[in-house]
Amino acid sequence: MNTTVDYAYYSSALDGVRLPAAVLDLDALEANARAVLTRAGKLPVRLGSKSIRVRGVIERLLASDARYAGLLCFSAEEAVWLAGHGFRDLVVAYPTVQERLVRAVCRANRACAGESPGANAAASAGSAPLTGTAPAPITLMVDSPAQVDMLGRIAASEGVCLPLCLDLDLSVKYPGLHFGVRRSPVADVREALAVYRAIQQCPALRLDGLMGYEAQIAGLPDSVPGARLKSSVVRALKRQSIPRIHARRQAVVAALKDAGAVLRFVNGGGTGSLESTAQDDSVTELTAGSAFFAPVSFDWFAGFDQIPAMMFALELARIPAPGYFTCTGGGYIASGAAGPDRLPRPVLPEGLSLTATEGAGEVQTPLLVRTGSTATSLEVGEPVFFRHTKAGELCERFNEVLCIRDCEIVDRLPTYRGEGQCFL
Ligand SMILES: Cc1ncc(COP(=O)(O)O)c(C=O)c1O
Repeated sequence: MNTTVDYAYYSSALDGVRLPAAVLDLDALEANARAVLTRAGKLPVRLGSKSIRVRGVIERLLASDARYAGLLCFSAEEAVWLAGHGFRDLVVAYPTVQERLVRAVCRANRACAGESPGANAAASAGSAPLTGTAPAPITLMVDSPAQVDMLGRIAASEGVCLPLCLDLDLSVKYPGLHFGVRRSPVADVREALAVYRAIQQCPALRLDGLMGYEAQIAGLPDSVPGARLKSSVVRALKRQSIPRIHARRQAVVAALKDAGAVLRFVNGGGTGSLESTAQDDSVTELTAGSAFFAPVSFDWFAGFDQIPAMMFALELARIPAPGYFTCTGGGYIASGAAGPDRLPRPVLPEGLSLTATEGAGEVQTPLLVRTGSTATSLEVGEPVFFRHTKAGELCERFNEVLCIRDCEIVDRLPTYRGEGQCFL
């Protein structure tokens, strides 16, 4: 990143704009989207909506290439809302346990029954054709026979056949170490078949797909500045565990097929694992979300590069002492285990850093100004640009995203929040 040129570029694009503002560089977004497809080999890519949370961006990405197909949603409520806007092939990635939401999904699926198969591809157009037999738009996640029973009871009472996706745990156990996340209890062939048999027993349900997300490969940074030793251990663990992960996913897929399951998709991976997940022959599609906005946490991966596309701009509000600037707002802390790596980073102009005592504040964010840096020439009222640690969470702080191209704001896209939606 050429910071001098980029600061002038972005600040002149934002001239006269209300701050704080979320800023999306469309050229960077498009370059990242092309890079995802290259990294994914020949596989289609499902969009991880939690890492985007802007309907207009999701539409652009789906329209940009036929290999972008379907969404991995983060809540059933979101999927119902998106289905109402014409999106199809919506897999809810996490369990849905509230009856009223399951009913809403059944009703959304019923409302789309009878669409033509082309309706899936029509997601970005927002207009669904009316005849034919497309798959139901929303698929719910399951990981236990008890959940299956609950979903089956509700689907039967709604008079629909509800498609389900089985969530396979891909964490790997080493002596004294759980390498992975705590999500699904289904971690082997026996447990997967138990859930499948429960689904088979319920005429109002069918198994649609399998998701095996290797979070510890896809989401765990392995090249963190200032943490060389830890990073090399993480890289070694990743290398060692990837063959075990692929073998487990393959064994479960094979066993389900032997038992009669017809899987429409086998989903795996995420931004940090596209290349390795694509090597697993059992996988039919990948997921990517963060790769498009390219937040800070994905700078810390050894295997790929990305271009920061999403930033936020704060106004420089005051100069409390020589060597310090204070901005308005900024406390957009990322989720996860609390620590300095959850804080946003000032990136433009170069030469600014958060203070250890205050970090990023609720209303005021003081910054240290490095002597001799380009930042020293900044004046009160001018913007300072930051990057968030994660991708989609920033959108919960803004109503709209300002889209920049050729040094101008060319579009203003409402975030989920800007559309009045708050799912989590
Ligand atoms: C189930 C699942 N799949 C895939 C992903 C990858 O998303 P991203 O590409 O934004 O890292 C995530 C992220 O947490 C996830 O929970």
